[in-house]
Amino acid sequence: MKQMDTEKLLMIPGPTMVPSRVLNTMALPIIGHRTSDFGDLTGDTVDMMKKVFQTENDTYIITGSGTAVMDMAISNTLDKGDKVINITNGNFGERFYKISSVYKADTIKYEPEWGDLADPKKLRELLEENEGIKAVTVVHNETSTGAKNPIEDLGNVVKDFDAIYIVDTISSLGGDYVNVDKFNIDICVTGSQKCIAAPPGLAAITVGEKAWDVVSKTETKSFYLDLNAYKKSWDAKKETPYTPSVSLTYAMNEALEMVLEEGLENRFKRHDLLARATRAGLEAMGLELFAKERARSVTVTSAKYPEGIDDKKFRGLLAEKYNIRVAGGQSHLAGKIFRVGHMGSAKEYQVLGTLAAIELAFKELGYNAEGGVAAAKKVLSN
Ligand SMILES: Cc1ncc(COP(=O)(O)O)c(C=O)c1O
Repeated sequence: MKQMDTEKLLMIPGPTMVPSRVLNTMALPIIGHRTSDFGDLTGDTVDMMKKVFQTENDTYIITGSGTAVMDMAISNTLDKGDKVINITNGNFGERFYKISSVYKADTIKYEPEWGDLADPKKLRELLEENEGIKAVTVVHNETSTGAKNPIEDLGNVVKDFDAIYIVDTISSLGGDYVNVDKFNIDICVTGSQKCIAAPPGLAAITVGEKAWDVVSKTETKSFYLDLNAYKKSWDAKKETPYTPSVSLTYAMNEALEMVLEEGLENRFKRHDLLARATRAGLEAMGLELFAKERARSVTVTSAKYPEGIDDKKFRGLLAEKYNIRVAGGQSHLAGKIFRVGHMGSAKEYQVLGTLAAIELAFKELGYNAEGGVAAAKKVLSN
């Protein structure tokens, strides 16, 4: 293999740093996927996943990235001409809209300002004005903006209608509070590489009764991502229909064990603390946070660049001189904001180190940013 620098600290909003305890499991020999051992491993992984989702609903682990389960959620529930409301206050909300469009659904966009949250009252109005909505899609934590949507309140609206409620928790599950059953989420999707701190490549989907009813009446449009095929194989033989990634399943199992060992409440508190420290640090440097105060994510923080700072130079300096990667903006926010991920296994010293490097990099580029580390330390020591 070509030599690469694999020692950089990932403070991007996924993939995140993977603990060596998790990485080491992938060195285990491959076992057959149609064996009782693998069935037991998958069963155990699904049981833990359900605890993290806080659901009794059917749950499947899919070999594919987060987008695969977004696609699965839409292709199994929407036919050509079916009405869907896509909440699109960021790049990943847009992705649900694009997927719905690929399957030729009749899409209605509800587009709150990027960086702000969706309003449940507005969603109720849309559902009342437009009869026969089959599904509502929303992203819990908009990784592209650093803002989050009030998925519990939105779920309380959708449950009063026939529409099913489809939620992307790809960059929140395991880091921020999600309770699939309490929030009335009919289909919930997540990925391995963010707050769960497993390597990229696996995803998970939960399917409730109301959603199964819709699936049973929807034409099958995907072969690989056919929910009925996953259900049939699991119910009959505790298997997946096609060959899953055995190594990634080892890793996901170990990562979920670590999530549950820490405890969901403790994990939410840690993410919240790191978010508050990061926000305080960046604001003390004189930066303006991109997400509105009422909508701020606990897993990723976005900030606007000060006048005259070049995105490529800034992130290049952070990566090359300080060995820390942060992310840039996406879509129309490219070059305008940067994003710091503090999710998964993120620790206090990593946030402090990142803020220190940001101060130094800004200084080198001519912007005097001081006091960020001190402000973060204050939050962390309270
Ligand atoms: C909220 C959200 N949804 C969907 C995705 C897409 O996931 P993937 O890149 O694993 O396909 C991402 C990835 O960053 C995300 O953050």
